[in-house]
Amino acid sequence: MLLQLQNITKGYGEPGTHSYRAVLKDLNFELAQGTKVAIVGPSGSGKTTLLNLIGALDQPESGRILFEGKEITGYSKTELATFRNKHLGFVFQLHHLMPQLSLWENVLLPLLPQGNKISKEQKDWAEYLIKKVGIWEQRYQKPSEMSGGECQRTAVIRALINKPKLILADEPTGALDEENATALTDLLKQLSDDEGVTLVTVTHSSVLAEQMDKKFTIRKGNLE
Ligand SMILES: Nc1ncnc2c1ncn2[C@@H]1O[C@H](COP(=O)(O)OP(=O)(O)OP(=O)(O)O)[C@@H](O)[C@H]1O
Ligand SMILES: [Mg+2]
Repeated sequence: MLLQLQNITKGYGEPGTHSYRAVLKDLNFELAQGTKVAIVGPSGSGKTTLLNLIGALDQPESGRILFEGKEITGYSKTELATFRNKHLGFVFQLHHLMPQLSLWENVLLPLLPQGNKISKEQKDWAEYLIKKVGIWEQRYQKPSEMSGGECQRTAVIRALINKPKLILADEPTGALDEENATALTDLLKQLSDDEGVTLVTVTHSSVLAEQMDKKFTIRKGNLE
């Protein structure tokens, strides 16, 4: 298994007080390498909360998270950051591209914390991805000079630049019109198929959910 969540509990506020609100309750989830899953559920049901736990951006109150059989719950902040950088790619509803950087620079940005110079191989990989999604012409443009769909495609490539094992997407098509949303959905599916990347996407879009191998619904703090 690539990822295992065991008996995960997570809420907000001070446990044991009135302010506490349980969001995930004794949740279990397993994800095999190469699978693509959608997570759906009403607003406030805990989809982003779950994705933040899987993405090691937040810690559960109890339970264990294992990645490739190794427990990551209990890692230090630095270890979690290294883990994220090495294994995960993120795509959000809003692209979060750096406004002052070009498409090309935004795509290469996740490689910089590794300290080394960006290699020829990495540049070739970036070029391959940018061409593949059809925005090579726009590579020197800044986000303000690109369309919403182009920005979101850039964000998808940025998530792939580190060759992650797992991509986490939170409403990746949420800010796009129908045509662009469909194009991005196809792209996510195609890229994860071609590159063998595992994909977890939170979505309100039934079109996107239908394209995945499995669909889970968060209900009463658990996955069905
Ligand atoms: N940092 C926080 N502090 C307190 N409560 C929070 C926090 N983050 C989320 N919540 C609450 O936890 C619940 C689940 O939130 P979450 O963001 O996971 O929902 P969601 O399923 O992603 O919803 P949406 O579809 O609207 O994005 C909500 O009731 C929310 O108000
Ligand atoms: Mg959310």
